Amino acid sequence: MKILVINGPNLNMLGKRDKEIYGDKTLAEIESLLKKQGKALAIEVITFQSNSEGALIDFIQEQSNSADGIIINPGALTHYGFSLRDALADSGLPIIEVHLSNIYAREEWRAKSVIAPVAKGNISGLGWRGYIAALRTLVAELKGEDV
Ligand code: DQA
Repeated sequence: MKILVINGPNLNMLGKRDKEIYGDKTLAEIESLLKKQGKALAIEVITFQSNSEGALIDFIQEQSNSADGIIINPGALTHYGFSLRDALADSGLPIIEVHLSNIYAREEWRAKSVIAPVAKGNISGLGWRGYIAALRTLVAELKGEDV
């Protein structure tokens, strides 16, 4: 089983970006924890980050035929990334949207996600642990396991 973990614009700056909001772990640290969790679950975790919507779409189009699910933090594209939303919908894969911060407790414009309607569900405000929870949940569901 192969799960794609995709991060959008500015998430390469984790660890330096507003730590009060996004926590102090770098993206490399979060990706390494996800790969470790992937090993424990005996699945493959492929990570990708880009600041460009086009590169995110290219990656989804190239990888989705050989993948089983997608975990994505679209960054600010969450709020206006219609091309990204279409690419995710076209992938036909189960998608979990993750946000480090609670997008419902911040500026009003952040509370609207154009990705949410094509996602199975979303996790918001649990910090880096949200990615791990998403991975465990998606894999358990795909494997038909209870936990
Ligand atoms: C974010 C929330 C977005 O509103 C913001 O633009 C980000 C990060 C989060 O993980 O909390 O870049 O997706």
